[in-house]
Amino acid sequence: MSIALTGASGQLGRLVIEELLTSGVPANEVVAIVRDPAKATAFADRGVQIRQADYADQAAWRPALEGVDRLLLISVSGAGASDAHRSVIDAAADTGVGHIAYTSILHADHTSNPLAPEHAATERLIAATGIPATMLRTAWYHELYTRMLRTYLATGEVVGSTGDGRISGAARADFAASASAVLLADDAESRTYELGGPAFTLADLAQTITAVTGTPVVNRNLTNDEHVAELRSAGMDSTSIHFVAGTDASIAAGEMETDSDALTRLIGRAPRTLAESVRQAL
Ligand SMILES: NC(=O)c1ccc[n+]([C@@H]2O[C@H](COP(=O)([O-])OP(=O)(O)OC[C@H]3O[C@@H](n4cnc5c(N)ncnc54)[C@H](OP(=O)(O)O)[C@@H]3O)[C@@H](O)[C@H]2O)c1
Repeated sequence: MSIALTGASGQLGRLVIEELLTSGVPANEVVAIVRDPAKATAFADRGVQIRQADYADQAAWRPALEGVDRLLLISVSGAGASDAHRSVIDAAADTGVGHIAYTSILHADHTSNPLAPEHAATERLIAATGIPATMLRTAWYHELYTRMLRTYLATGEVVGSTGDGRISGAARADFAASASAVLLADDAESRTYELGGPAFTLADLAQTITAVTGTPVVNRNLTNDEHVAELRSAGMDSTSIHFVAGTDASIAAGEMETDSDALTRLIGRAPRTLAESVRQAL
């Protein structure tokens, strides 16, 4: 069986390849599709097939997907993402790919999260092909926050406008494990999974950082208008402000929370806790 993934040189893609290899998939049955093969030499050395294709280069995708049975389409973010994904999806239909898994966003079809419309559009493009598909609608990676750890510790605060909104975040590695499980499933049906771990607020995040590091950190919660003003005075461009303040408003509205246990079921164990992710980031 040939299993391909796009975005294979990215952080999630690398973890998915490791999961597949650890699960016993022969390296030559894994097809890592990258835009820059120089970033995939370590996988090539281990026998993984490397193919080159950029989302912007429609013609590259048919040869990239030749002979592929199951495909993980790892998303890009932002405006135009669904058009970028369309090249891959059209080629998957042309080449007879048997199953597509797609890294979508939590509640893609009913959330005000500004990233969601491109994900929902991509889900529709995939559905229109009739290819059996699995939508991996993931909540935020823990790493979106833990990569800010140095700043939180230096300033003593986690700033946001999420209010009491809870985030069903999980470690990127656990989302990668769930993608690997779906690629290896002997399952022809189309499914949508809402994927997340135990929910936390930004106040919980601040408390967890304090407990793990011993350095006091608090959550400074702003109104949406205050948040926009603060981001503007920090020099952020208006597109980024729209995404940052918009996603926080969506979290405040409860849209980054799920009570689904699909992540635990797919990976066969409890996902890593927030405290473990903070510890690992230190
Ligand atoms: N749920 C969340 O919290 C969350 C957080 C972050 C991201 N995401 C989503 O999940 C995706 C994967 O996350 P990640 O952490 O692995 O992100 P990442 O490390 O930035 O990886 C993105 C991958 O997409 C590839 N890519 C970008 N533009 C491309 C193009 N035009 N043609 C072909 N490949 C292209 C990149 O290639 P290069 O290696 O050549 O740059 C990279 O391999 C992201 O792209 C985003 O859509 C979700």
